[in-house]
Parts: sequence; structure tokens; C-alpha cells
Amino acid sequence: MTISVKAMTLDSHYLTITWANEHQSIYHYLWLRDNCASGFHEITQERLFSLLSVSPDLHALSAKISDDQQSLIIDWSEGNHCSSFDLNWLKAHDYSRQVHQNSHKIIWNHHYQTHIATHDYRQIINNDSALKAWMTDLTKYGLTIINHMPKDTASTTDIACRIGHLRETNFGTTFNVKSKPNPNNLAYTADALPLHTDLPNQETPPGYQFLHCLENQSQGGDSTYVDGFQVAKYLRDNHANDFALLSTIKIPFRFHDNQHDIIGYHPVISLIDGRIDEIKYNAHLASTFNLSPEIMYDYYLAYQHFMATLNKPEFMISFKMNAGDMVVFDNRRVLHGRMSFDPNTGPRHLHGCYIDRTEFESKHRMLKKQFMKT
Ligand code: OGA
Ligand code: ZN
Repeated sequence: MTISVKAMTLDSHYLTITWANEHQSIYHYLWLRDNCASGFHEITQERLFSLLSVSPDLHALSAKISDDQQSLIIDWSEGNHCSSFDLNWLKAHDYSRQVHQNSHKIIWNHHYQTHIATHDYRQIINNDSALKAWMTDLTKYGLTIINHMPKDTASTTDIACRIGHLRETNFGTTFNVKSKPNPNNLAYTADALPLHTDLPNQETPPGYQFLHCLENQSQGGDSTYVDGFQVAKYLRDNHANDFALLSTIKIPFRFHDNQHDIIGYHPVISLIDGRIDEIKYNAHLASTFNLSPEIMYDYYLAYQHFMATLNKPEFMISFKMNAGDMVVFDNRRVLHGRMSFDPNTGPRHLHGCYIDRTEFESKHRMLKKQFMKT
């Protein structure tokens, strides 16, 4: 595809391209030189160029569009070097047009209950296009169901391993959620689990969680889900002071048993450049707050407010999982919980595992490239 450049101006630290559609993109000289294709190893594609080889005054002696209209050619003021940049590449890496990471996410409320993105086990196992479609839905909504799962533990990881390797935690590479004697975790009781994200006591809590229902004959045990982005957005729009505390103050989360004492500090709402990026919240793992006396009371009010907002019926989904269903969700966005159940009325058994966010995104990117070629 030919991309046409209408005009180009050179300033002391950057050049500006005006594209045919009038959009203007700024490209700094240091950024351009740092990304010159000649600076990368030809096989590994890792950067060999050292930024220390140029000065802050680096600039273009001349910049022009190639005769075939495909590239920008720059003669540099230092190092006797000339670079050529593909215009499509420049367009794709246009940092004057900020497309933020979460722009493709669809935030939901209780209405999502009637149309939760649902995909088929066998399709995902056998077909890369179905795998990609499911991963795209998971990226968008942060909560999906896979149905027609074989009722065995192997199929949980058969699906997860279609994406990549599993995230191991102190609970192992997979875990069985059942009511057990001597539990080291509330999940392994028959008690209700209030809405939470898993393992905020870790430095980086797992990215995606898989919960495969193998048996669910007990009375109770319904699952609950809330889109944490919706809750954070509600607080930002309606209770700005609470939002400010929840998104700046780190609180401790702790898991401890006979073998571990794992503590991680996080704000409940993480922001990137002011945008809601992640949720880390688990009231049963929250440790003793050690905030300064000036903010302790206000923080408690904000934290209480977050809890109360989570439980608003208009935000919440709830359903009873059937054996053969697996929920897969973004554990740093969507909160999950369950109602209490009566283990004397029948067995309840979920089998779970985690995959980290970068593994997921890597596979998703590779699938997108694969389908772009075909
Ligand atoms: C968990 C959990 C939910 C359930 O194991 O972390 O939240 O339905 N389980 O038992
Ligand atoms: Zn959980």
C-alpha cells in the first residue's frame, strides 16, 4: 500500500510528517536513530546500536521521501550514517496518535450475563482460528466460558497449554478447589468467597485464571463475577476522592501457611497514565493496613465504598457452573467469588490453573500474524 506524505518539516529535535489525510506525526531524531534497522542483529533482531554513540544534538542533515514513495531517508549529522524508514512502519508506530492499551476492551455490567462469550472446547483444541476468536473475546470482555469440556483434569491444561506454559504458584501448577479437611485457603472450604482477584499477595498476580467445573452437585456454590473496570470507573466518575485513595495507596496482601509467608503491596486500582489498568483486591488476603494516621480513616471509607460498589446488583453476574464448563477470566480485571455450599448435599470440584498476561498476549499476537498471512 502506498502511503502519501503531503509535507515534511524539520525542527531541531524532531521532524513532522503531514500525511495525505492532514494528520501530523512527530518523530524525534533520537527515536528514529534508535530504531534504524541497521542497528539490529540480523538474526535475533535484538538491538546492537548504542544510544551512547550519538549526542543529544543529533539531527537530520537532510530528510526526503524515496523515489518509490515507500520510505523516509535521513542523512544524519553524526556518525556518517544514513537511515531508511518504511513509511508503513512509521505510520504503525505513530506515537502522536496515542492508542491506549485498553481501548479494545468492552466494559460490562449485569447485562453481560445473558450473552457471556462462550466457545467450544473441541474447536479451540483443533482449530487455530477458533483459538484466536476465543482469545480475542477474552481480551475484550475479560470473562469467557468454554463449554463441552471433557470432565477430566487433563482437559483444563490442554486448553491453557494451547496458549503457553502455566504460571506456577505456591498452590502448584494446577489446583483442585474442593472442601478439604485442614484447608490452607478459604477456597478449600465450603464458605462463601466474596468477590476477589486471586493472589494479590504476589509481586505480580497471575494474569488469566482457568476454573474448570468437574462436579457441582452441592446445594449452593453459585459463581459471581464483576467487571472491576466498571466498578473503578463508577468510583472515578462519582466518588473522585475514594478513587484517588484506592488508586494511589498501596495496601498489603498476605498469604501464610506452614510453608509460606508471601506479602505483596498493591493499590486496589492500578493506573497507567491516569487510565484504569488493573484491579488487585482480595478482602480475605488483605493484611493489617499500616497506612499513616492521617489517611487511615479516609482510606477505610474508600475501601468500604469499593466493597459496597462491588456488590451492587447492576454490576454483578451470577450463575451456577455446570460440570463440563470452564470459566476463563482476566484475574487483574474481573473479580470472582462464590456463594457458600453444603458439601453434604453432593460433591463440588473445580480444577484450576493460571497463565500470565505476557504469555497470553504473545500467543494472541502470533495468531494474528498467522491469519494476516493466510
Ligand atoms: C478460587 C476461587 C471459586 C469457586 O479457588 O480462587 O475463587 O467457585 N474459587 O470455588
Ligand atoms: Zn479465587
